Amino acid sequence: MSRVVVVTGASRGIGAATAEAFIRLGDTVISISRSGTGPAGVARGYSVDVADPEAIRDAFTAIVNEYGPIEVLVANAGITRDGLALRMSTDHWREVLSVNLDGSFYSAQAAMTSMIKNRQGSIIFIGSVSPFVGIPGQANYAAAKAGLVGLARSLATELARRNITVNVVAPGFIETDMTVGVANERDTVIAQIPAGRIGQVEDVASVITFLASQHARYITGAVLPVDGGLGMGL
Ligand code: NAI
Repeated sequence: MSRVVVVTGASRGIGAATAEAFIRLGDTVISISRSGTGPAGVARGYSVDVADPEAIRDAFTAIVNEYGPIEVLVANAGITRDGLALRMSTDHWREVLSVNLDGSFYSAQAAMTSMIKNRQGSIIFIGSVSPFVGIPGQANYAAAKAGLVGLARSLATELARRNITVNVVAPGFIETDMTVGVANERDTVIAQIPAGRIGQVEDVASVITFLASQHARYITGAVLPVDGGLGMGL
């Protein structure tokens, strides 16, 4: 059973590990990232800015034309531009909303056209524990990631009868390029995590492949924390 799986932000970090996990399952994996690269084994890498709705539409049309209906979308591309709200520039506010929230919507909208026709699919948004625990300096990021929960739940309701599930995976601290900045505060961060360790990309990828599998076909509109207990299901 080889599915067509699109992973945004698959050039590194959680996205690359997720793409690798689907490749190991025998799926046809398409990577979308700014650089257009992806891990070994991806069928194709597209260089697209997810915040550009036209470019996203064109890329998804090209994917469907070449590989057939999309069965799984992992909307993972994301950025941070941290700073205290008092001094946060409008650019940093907009940039984070554009990539994390707008980009996820554009990707989901483009993918669902194909899923609705095919009457099956799984959309997985990569959220964060950030909106649930309150992290200073992340007003833009937390707002964008909280927005994904509302987006996912509306879509879950709209698409459930079409046999399409829509869920959010909410990672805590995961070791990637995005979190190198917290390297100096490693011990403080670990002290807050009940599991006593920072998460690895594979911890998140395995939950994503589960949500996209038949084992999870009755799960929709859910927010699944992958955070070693940091948010305790908030
Ligand atoms: P990363 O910085 O290692 O990778 C981000 C990926 O997104 C890269 O492939 C990058 O090219 C892509 N990307 C960024 N902006 C893009 C754009 N405009 N268009 C297309 N691609 C774009 O980050 P990481 O840690 O792997 O994060 C992946 C997702 O997980 C993000 O949505 C992030 O917010 C989320 N997350 C990460 C956590 C962590 O601790 N690392 C915790 C909670 C959530």
